[in-house]
Parts: sequence; C-alpha cells; structure tokens
Amino acid sequence: MPELMDKIVSLAKRRGYVFQSSEIYGGLNGCWDYGPLGVELLRNIKEEWWRSMTLRDDIEGIDASILMHPRVWEASGHVENFTDPMVDCKECKFRYRLDVLFEETSIKKQKEILRELFPDKFQGQQKDDLITQEFKKITDKSTSIILNYLTCPNCGKKDSFTDARKFNLMFKTFIGPVEDTSAIVYLRPETAQGIYVNFLNVQVASRKKLPFGIAQIGKAFRNEINTKNFLFRTREFEQMEMQYFVNPATDVQWFEFWREQRMQWFINLGLKKDKLRWHQHEPNALAHYAKDAYDIEYEFPFAFGEIEGIHNRTNYDLTRHEEFSGKSMKYFDDKTNEKYTPFIIETSAGASRSFMAFLVDAYTEEEAPTAEGKFEMRSVLKLHHRLAPIKAAIFPLVNRDGMPEIARKIESELRSNIRVFYDDSGAVGRRYRRQDEIGTPYCITVDSQTLQDDTVTVRDRDSMQQERVAISKILNYIQNKLTKL
Ligand code: GAP
Repeated sequence: MPELMDKIVSLAKRRGYVFQSSEIYGGLNGCWDYGPLGVELLRNIKEEWWRSMTLRDDIEGIDASILMHPRVWEASGHVENFTDPMVDCKECKFRYRLDVLFEETSIKKQKEILRELFPDKFQGQQKDDLITQEFKKITDKSTSIILNYLTCPNCGKKDSFTDARKFNLMFKTFIGPVEDTSAIVYLRPETAQGIYVNFLNVQVASRKKLPFGIAQIGKAFRNEINTKNFLFRTREFEQMEMQYFVNPATDVQWFEFWREQRMQWFINLGLKKDKLRWHQHEPNALAHYAKDAYDIEYEFPFAFGEIEGIHNRTNYDLTRHEEFSGKSMKYFDDKTNEKYTPFIIETSAGASRSFMAFLVDAYTEEEAPTAEGKFEMRSVLKLHHRLAPIKAAIFPLVNRDGMPEIARKIESELRSNIRVFYDDSGAVGRRYRRQDEIGTPYCITVDSQTLQDDTVTVRDRDSMQQERVAISKILNYIQNKLTKL
C-alpha cells in the first residue's frame, strides 16, 4: 500500500498538483505548495463546499482575520489544552509525539515489553489484538514505565527519552515592533473562533433568527510534532468550517441533520462509499468543548484517517467568550421572549485533507485498449467532473488539412467558459493518456470526418466511449455534462 501512496505523490509532483514547499532549499517539513492543477482542484473543492453551505437561506459566510486578540485563545481553551505530550531523545535530540511513538511500536516489541513486565501473564501465544489492547492500557496509565523499554527510532539508543512534556501546537508570533510577551499573538489553529466572536455581528447585520449558521474557509496553522503522510498532517492547511447556532433543546436533531448532510457531500462528489466510515469519539476522548463528536474517516492507503469532524460544542465557546470579553453573547428570541446562549453544531472539514482523499480515491490503474487492438495499462484520475482541474482537452488528429485551425476555434469558444487544454503533440492515444492521468473528463478530437460534416468526437474519460457532436453544439454539450452532480 505505501507503494500506491508513492505513485500518487510522484504523479502529484510530475503533473503539477503538489510540490514540496521551498523544494530548492531542501523543503520545509509539513508545508506543501499547490501547483497549476492542484490549485484548481483545491479551488473546486472549496467552491463546491461554499455553494453547498451558502446557497441556503440559513447560512451566511465570513472571512475573519488569521491573527486574533490573544485572549480569544485563552477563552477557547487553546492556550491551556491545545497540547500534545511529547518526549525528546537525550542522545540525538529528536522529538516525538508520545502517542505516535506508542502507536508505532511494533507488535513484536509490544509483546517483548509485556513479557518483561508481566512474565506470568504474557507467556505463550497471544492474539495480536489482545497484546495491542493490553499495551494501550498500560500506556494510558503510565507512560514512563514503557518509555524505559523503547529505543529511539532515529538513533536506536535504548532508554534515552526525557519525561513526557506538554507541547502547545499554536504558532506564536509578535505584533508590532517589540518582541516581548505583551506583543504575543498566535496564528489561528482553527477558523472556528473567528466565527464565534462574530456571532452577534453576523446575526444582527443579516437579521438572522435561530437556527442559522456561519461558514468560513481559511488557513489554519498547527505546529504538529510529527507531520506525515503527504498532505494528511501538515503545519499549514485550510479548513472549511460551518458553525450552526441552535436552540439548546434542538441540538441532537441538528447534530444528526448535519452528520447526514456532510457524509452525503463527500459521496455526491464521488468518494467511494465503502472507503468512508464514521468514528464516534469515546466519552473519555471528547475534546474539552464537546458533548458528542463524530469523525468522517476515509480509508487512505496507509490507514483510515479523519477528513471531517462534526461536533456538538454545546454553549461552551460562546459562554467562554462572554466570560473573557465581558460582552454578552446571548441571543434574544423575540417569539418566546427568551434570552439564551445557543448551542453550536460544528462541521469542520480539512480542505487539504479532502483534497488528498479525492486524489487518492480517484487514482485508478486499469487496462485500456490501444489503436492496434491490444491492451495497455493506463493510470487515470477518475475525479468527479465538478472537481477536475481541466474540463476538456482539444486535439486536432493531425497537424494539417485545416484541422488545427478548427480545433483552435473550438478551444477559444470553450476557453472563455471553462478550463480547457489544447494539445497537438504525439499520437492521439498518447494525448488521451496524458489527459486521463490528470483527470480531464472529456477529450474533443477534430478528425477527417469533421471536414465533411462539422462534427467532432467527444471521448468520455471513464468509459472511453466516443460520441460525435456537432461543433455548433459542443459548448452546450460539455456544459450540460458539467452541471450534473
Ligand atoms: N474547529 C474544530 C477543529 O479544528 P479538528 O478535528 O482539530 O477540529 C478539523 O480539525 C479538520 O481539520 C480535520 O478533520 C482535518 O480534516 C483538518 N486538519 C486538522 N489538523 C490538520 C493538519 N495538521 N493537517 C491537515 N489537516 C488538518
């Protein structure tokens, strides 16, 4: 499976989806740049999300600033709680997230440790599941015992770890010219807080009644200790968050509503149903603000991983902001004459993680027929046509007989409406393959029949079937296909 991930990462770089940040300087860990095709795919994902949220009469959008008053992060609990326990290797100074260190301990090593600690209980054959369960129980109770038995994955030294310490994941910087503690501000670790502090501004300005939501797309930053798996855990990423403010008596109903909506969004845009699943947070693993929480998980080649969280955040955030700012965050219901602090149902998706899920899900290797009647392997990105960076490619079959001129005319008509690509180099089969590899859903070819009857072939990326369409109808034909969900 890691092989599959390597192929996708390599395609992403080769075809201009994703590059390593600052690559010529050796790269910057946990940061990535979106290339010409990547930026289109990312924009299309965000656009689909934005439309699904804001083409409703109960949701408004905002774009809050990344830097916020430092008290926001005290109120939200991030200064105190947004931490990961970590350990350093005293020998090579490598830093590890404690849970990752334990997670990545092999079953063989887990068995060895359990046998040394409890020789009576763990002799003979035991199932791997049982070993993992017991190992987890001990690591949950006491980390220091286990640390003594582990070797540093980087330098191989045994028993070389410091005690676990809390490490805050927020990036700090300074506002103004003086770099002292009074000037500290944070790069936001989630976009949500920009919505909460604006709750009443938006409610009053847009004259909304509960229930209503506020949507936002924007960058978030986390100083992750272990970045890994391509775009999965990065230090700079984008979130698409919607906070839905409800009467506390209706929280469960709205929580269920948004859970259903959000799962369906991914399915409608093509993610395979059998690669998606729900993960409900155990009561003891809930975030400090949450009453209930579910993750939508996607099965990546390395493991299932969260792509979106749906959280019942209760009135925690608004209550805390009221407490810390001294300003009321209550809503007045003029129908019932009640004043109360709404509950918040949050849908929080990673744009970058969704990007990776859509890319991985679309990547397909399959046999395709050649012009000689044989078969060859093709790699194809079966991206939903609404997400595909380039919607159609236009080819003249040969570079003579007036075909390039007709193809250029079709290109210029389409280009002012959709993103297209003109290609006249190499055999037409190779041109199809190049478009398949980047996920272009339609290829339009001008051939000798075009010269007779003003029709072109339109080839569908997935079925590889071709249809003849009149040039005068081509824009309509492609646009009709693209508007379908
Ligand atoms: N406001 C709630 C919140 O931020 P979260 O579960 O920490 O909740 C929500 O993050 C989503 O943001 C995740 O489901 C994931 O898609 C994305 N995300 C979180 N940390 C990330 C990281 N380091 N790199 C990329 N995406 C990340």
